[in-house]
Amino acid sequence: MTVASAAQIPIGEAKVVVAGSQEIALFHVGEDEWYALESTCPHQGGPLAEGWVHEKTVTCPWHAWCFSLESGRLVMADMEGVATYDVRVRDGDVAVNPVPRANGA
Ligand code: FES
Repeated sequence: MTVASAAQIPIGEAKVVVAGSQEIALFHVGEDEWYALESTCPHQGGPLAEGWVHEKTVTCPWHAWCFSLESGRLVMADMEGVATYDVRVRDGDVAVNPVPRANGA
């Protein structure tokens, strides 16, 4: 389902969007590189869309837990972390499948 216009989220930025009943942190990392993660950190509820992105990870702004943007897994312990979602961009619209991918939490 369409959740945003690609023009609303420049490269290097992220935004919380809603897809179905899910609040999702949508990251625009590179030209055609987008990631969608569950928006709330499983530690104490930090806002992952406000986290720091480095390469293919995001660090929670509250206590620095770090998650893979690709798998949602907690990087420091290689444990399940947050759910991830498929993203597709077409004709300037960003669509997210609200059903979590199988490799998420
Ligand atoms: S709430 Fe995210 S690391 Fe604590």
